[in-house]
Amino acid sequence: MTNQIKQTGDGSDTLVSETFNQPYHSLGGAVAESRIVYFESTGLNERLTSTDSGHINIMEIGFGSGLNLVLLLDYLENSPSDKKIAFCSVEAYPIAPETVSEINFGDQLSHIDYRALLTNIFSNPKPGWNKIEITTNVTLHLFVGMFDELTNPNELDFDFVMHDPFSPDSNPAGWTPDLFGKLAGWSSMNAMLSTYSAATSARAAMAVGGWKIARAPGALGKREMTVASKNGENLSHLKRVNEQRLIERYENEEFR
Ligand SMILES: C[S@@+](CC[C@H](N)C(=O)[O-])C[C@H]1O[C@@H](n2cnc3c(N)ncnc32)[C@H](O)[C@@H]1O
Repeated sequence: MTNQIKQTGDGSDTLVSETFNQPYHSLGGAVAESRIVYFESTGLNERLTSTDSGHINIMEIGFGSGLNLVLLLDYLENSPSDKKIAFCSVEAYPIAPETVSEINFGDQLSHIDYRALLTNIFSNPKPGWNKIEITTNVTLHLFVGMFDELTNPNELDFDFVMHDPFSPDSNPAGWTPDLFGKLAGWSSMNAMLSTYSAATSARAAMAVGGWKIARAPGALGKREMTVASKNGENLSHLKRVNEQRLIERYENEEFR
């Protein structure tokens, strides 16, 4: 897969996939968008910087450039207490170490060694699960394979799901009821899932997979994004969607 590096509106780089004909992040700001969609919308930023210690298990769908892992490390730099983090992710098309060694996520990150870190991660990934100790508290479990082959390493109970494939139109394998159902089965009742997409077909697949769904304000001028949880009470601060109606529409094959 060929990728070009492109600077975005907040000064951070993203990649543009020729295969999927899409940027990995919003061209308005890769770092700014990722912080809003994958950390602030679910409260993960607050969990990471709280005084609580304990374990946090995260599953990301689409490792891409590794920006979400880098941002996680950045939040932990400002954390007053130790937390044990399992960061799991899946990627079928790992990027070339030469590409990642040139990427620049801008000057807002306190974790400055990300190029060396990512070059190491991408230097020799083998098919299946790769386990890499990033720090004494953070372990990366990277599954090199397709979304539909994904398994759950160590039978973890996930607290957060970062759902980040390309868009439903261009990357439908990332938005199936099967995948959302698998993620629901591996997640705790209070787990929070978030994604930049507000597509009705994506929400329908989530609903069929067992998630309760809410609309959240989108990042960087986008009207909406989506936040989900198995327990609807976790979404009470947001505007809910009617999951039953979405399931009916899915069963009526409205999204085929
Ligand atoms: C939007 S990018 C992810 C961006 C990433 N979270 C980041 O912070 O850089 C989507 C990723 O999903 C991967 N991908 C697309 N289809 C896939 C599939 N069927 N199985 C596994 N990975 C896939 C792409 O290669 C790409 O890296």
